[in-house]
Amino acid sequence: MLSALAGLARPMLFALEPEAAHEVTLRALERGIYPRASSAQHPVLNVPLWGLTFPNPLGVAAGFDKDARVPDAVLGLGCGYAEIGTTTPKPQPGNPSPRVFRLISERAVINRLGFNNGGHAKALERLKTRPQRGIVGVNIGANKESGDRTADYVSGIEAFYDVASYFTVNISSPNTPGLRDLQAPAALDELLGRVMAARAAKVAAGSPRRPIVVKIAPDLADEDVGPVTQALARHSVDGIAVSNTTLARPAGLADRAATEAGGLSGRPLFHRSTVMLARVHQVTGGNIPLIGIGGIESGETALAKIEAGASLLQLYTGLIYEGPSLIERITTHLAEVCKERSVSSITDLVGIRAAEWASKSLD
Ligand code: FNR
Repeated sequence: MLSALAGLARPMLFALEPEAAHEVTLRALERGIYPRASSAQHPVLNVPLWGLTFPNPLGVAAGFDKDARVPDAVLGLGCGYAEIGTTTPKPQPGNPSPRVFRLISERAVINRLGFNNGGHAKALERLKTRPQRGIVGVNIGANKESGDRTADYVSGIEAFYDVASYFTVNISSPNTPGLRDLQAPAALDELLGRVMAARAAKVAAGSPRRPIVVKIAPDLADEDVGPVTQALARHSVDGIAVSNTTLARPAGLADRAATEAGGLSGRPLFHRSTVMLARVHQVTGGNIPLIGIGGIESGETALAKIEAGASLLQLYTGLIYEGPSLIERITTHLAEVCKERSVSSITDLVGIRAAEWASKSLD
């Protein structure tokens, strides 16, 4: 019944404006109206990382649940973890609508939301009152009008420290003017110096050490991938998420909406973000765990990210086109591949084709 409903959902949702469709989806998840993942677990998909055990490597990417409304439903759909945010200290409305566009023939989305969210306090309240079960990361950002953006990230670490399984420092949204400048190595030194100090203060006060992941853009110039990655490694970040949406428009995009301003996600982002992932894997010698994001829409694309170097995965746009059953299709596929290849853990496949992916052109 529920899966039949899920099958009906796409035409109904696609008749709505994208943001309205998203709100309907969140409300259904809030009310518990969604297909529960089968209870079948795949121990072969467990990912031990940062002192946590991810039941499987797949999560829903930031932007889906900016205000922590549905992390437990995301887990219930079969994800190994959820990531909420991007959340900023103060609530902010984001850019004027319309600001999300479907490129249906490309299986893509362009968004220029601009960190619309309810602010730290609202998300924190929800995370504090949920049952503390499952892995939930918190993706933090800066307010558009902030006079000290670094202070906004520090405030995110401090506010969510007791409820976040890990943090993602998002410096790669293309929709907050100047935010991506924080990726420059000198700016990273200042930002990560203060973010890491905020964590160190928490640890010194007796709190556990929460992992800090930095999420980067797929639009770094070829020659910047190395220096940016090395700057992240110098600060001993616990993970790198590759990638956010792209400002690039791959040649041949036929959809009329392709000319809209904003970040492109989904199928046309897959190649670029996977090549970038593999390059970051190579620069770090596989020593920093990576979250592979961008254009995952099937078991095969999920596997490709792992082989290119991802320890964990996230997806968003694929869910819009394929619906929630995609999550179980991906985990089932990954478990089958492990069986076929006689590996006892999905982690054995991480980066096995990184060299091949890294040698491809970004475009
Ligand atoms: C996003 N993304 C995003 N990322 C982030 O770090 N913070 C955010 O608030 C958002 N918001 C957001 C809104 C919408 C509508 C979309 C489509 C995307 C980017 C997202 O997390 C992911 O990095 C990209 O979408 C690439 O993955 P997919 O969508 O190709 O699977």
